[in-house]
Amino acid sequence: MLNYLYAVNRLHMSRPLPTYGPEVPPELQDKARTHVPKVDVQPDKVRKGESALVKIDLSAHPDRQDHAITLIELYYEEEGRNLNPVHVAHIVLEPEVVERVVELRLRPRASGWLHVVAYCNQHGLWHAVKRIEVEG
Ligand SMILES: [Fe+2]
Repeated sequence: MLNYLYAVNRLHMSRPLPTYGPEVPPELQDKARTHVPKVDVQPDKVRKGESALVKIDLSAHPDRQDHAITLIELYYEEEGRNLNPVHVAHIVLEPEVVERVVELRLRPRASGWLHVVAYCNQHGLWHAVKRIEVEG
């Protein structure tokens, strides 16, 4: 999948914020395997007012003081909204103390895309996107 935010940033900004997604050059495929957030949304179709369980798994990444995922940010890009995204969550993770598995319930107001960005203190920002449909 195309790294959506990066593509948008390239269109609109003179200096885009570098983030990396599942599609990286072959020499970075090993890094992508452990850094791109694994995101599961159940269900990925909800009725308006209902919530979906979002599970983010970064447990494949090392967890040491000098090399860890220390931050997970969630944003929701609402379809039809003029200025996106909506900030959903900011999760700070202390190395060697908590598992890199996060669950939360999201109640989207409209169909859109959940963006999950993880920060590795050695390898930068990694990005995954999930589509969520809202009916009714
Ligand atoms: Fe890393």
